Amino acid sequence: MATALNSQFGIKGQLSFREDASGLIVAEIDNALGRAWLCLQGAHLMMWQPKSQAVPVVWLSRDTKPAVGKSIRGGAPVCWPWFGAHATETSFPGHGFARTVPWRVIESGIEPDGATRMTLRLAASEKTLAQWSHECNADLTVIVGETLRMELKTENTGATDFVIGEALHTYFQIGDIEQISVTGLEGGEYWDKVGGSNLRRQDGAVSFSGEVDRVYINSGAECVIHDDKLKRRIHVAKSGSLSTVVWTPWVEKANKMGDMGQPDGWREMVCVESVNAIDNVVTVAAGTCHTLIVEYRAESV
Ligand code: BG6
Repeated sequence: MATALNSQFGIKGQLSFREDASGLIVAEIDNALGRAWLCLQGAHLMMWQPKSQAVPVVWLSRDTKPAVGKSIRGGAPVCWPWFGAHATETSFPGHGFARTVPWRVIESGIEPDGATRMTLRLAASEKTLAQWSHECNADLTVIVGETLRMELKTENTGATDFVIGEALHTYFQIGDIEQISVTGLEGGEYWDKVGGSNLRRQDGAVSFSGEVDRVYINSGAECVIHDDKLKRRIHVAKSGSLSTVVWTPWVEKANKMGDMGQPDGWREMVCVESVNAIDNVVTVAAGTCHTLIVEYRAESV
């Protein structure tokens, strides 16, 4: 399969496909501006490092074990067509099924600035149709360069409207969770998922001294991760997304999860997720599209 993909979509010196030990296909992108790995299962961007940065900007757990049907820990999981628990079916997977099923490559190319572009489409199967019977396409376009751009497009090809929840659930690499802050959410309302579900208001920048699991609603502004230890700022700009999730499991939860990277991988990551959830789920009318776009940029300070 990797051979066929290489001949159809590979780009000499920029994009190649390989099969890893678990049988999953991974696209490796390496150009003059940046490098990234993208697993076809889940259209899961696993890592991204612009050439200007000494360490990756998108974090991958050293203890993740890629496996068929299992989500990778780290990178940028695609949560779709719902976010969090399914509204009514408790047996359906959290964050939707998109991150654990195969996607297929439909296009690749080079942008005018030399960045590498690839588009994947979720491959509908008996399993996905059993949980989501709407006629639609879900496409993810990834553009890897000095910035990372991802576009998650949902096209309603059927005759009836449907409602989606979604996220680009990105894990960012940081120096130490206790030495960062996140701006861009000041004054906003959030559902606090730690200790019950309460609606609170953000006072100042977000800083971290314990587990944080918050869904900021009606929040479309750019967020910035200020990292004193790695001496950089990560800018998270977006459109088509009105919720932002900020998540760190902290030590106890990380130890229970078992795949966050021993001994303290949880310290080296923070999730700032571009989402549409709870108050901000999206109705995609018949015959129309909805696109969630993110663009990440790292700036040394
Ligand atoms: C976040 C949720 O988006 O994802 C958290 O707000 C959750 O509640 C986290 O723990 C990780 O989810 P998962 O399913 O990848 O372990």
